[in-house]
Amino acid sequence: MKTIKNKEKFANELSDWYRLNKRDLPFRKTCDPYKIFISELMLQQTQVDTVIPYYERFIKMFPTIQSLADAPVEKVLKLWEGLGYYRRARYIHETAQMIVQDFDGVFPGALKDIETLKGVGRYTARAIDSIAYDHPSPAVDGNVMRVMSRIMLYDKDISKTKHMREVENEVAKLIVYEIPSDFTQAMMELGAMICTKNPTCETCPVSAHCFAYKQNKQLDYPKKSKLKEKKHEHYFVFILRNNHKV
Ligand code: ADE
Repeated sequence: MKTIKNKEKFANELSDWYRLNKRDLPFRKTCDPYKIFISELMLQQTQVDTVIPYYERFIKMFPTIQSLADAPVEKVLKLWEGLGYYRRARYIHETAQMIVQDFDGVFPGALKDIETLKGVGRYTARAIDSIAYDHPSPAVDGNVMRVMSRIMLYDKDISKTKHMREVENEVAKLIVYEIPSDFTQAMMELGAMICTKNPTCETCPVSAHCFAYKQNKQLDYPKKSKLKEKKHEHYFVFILRNNHKV
């Protein structure tokens, strides 16, 4: 593994690019931790474009933690229809009720508390902590792993937890030089728009820092030891038809 030589320059150049080029997304207009929490849960396993209308409808219907906690779960599930992974809707509802009970209705501001919320894993907790509170918490998901593995020529299997932690430590050394909210979202934006499966390195704001680019090895990274066997899941689906309605 190589290390980024000028970490401050890297963090500044990436974040400046983000500030100039970021997509105009509705959840980027707020730093309300409740709204960031809703958007991050919706964005788990789901594309940004799909999430946008769901996020807007959801926040209109439930603008506060209290309004969500007071609603029947059926109403939350109805709003979630079509988004998939319905467990997330139940988690969001349970979390709102838990915050009302245990945190006086105020979204927790400490990472150790955010991590206890339903549906919030290590990555989502750090994303909320950095985006909503500007705490220098490194948020590393598969996209950030792809970006970092190329920049550092990281050869280890990125699906292993201990390797994710190693990369997380490297991201922690970068985020301290920037506004954490911008830096975290800049990493996500780079992974979504430029450092994709087929990266467009000519337009990358940090290609000068990228060891894979220098050696023209971008497509060899990230490294995954063995492709996990695809899991087949079987479901029964019931369709209720009402002839009076189309
Ligand atoms: N994916 C997960 N969180 C995101 C965010 N805040 N912006 C864009 N893509 C994301």
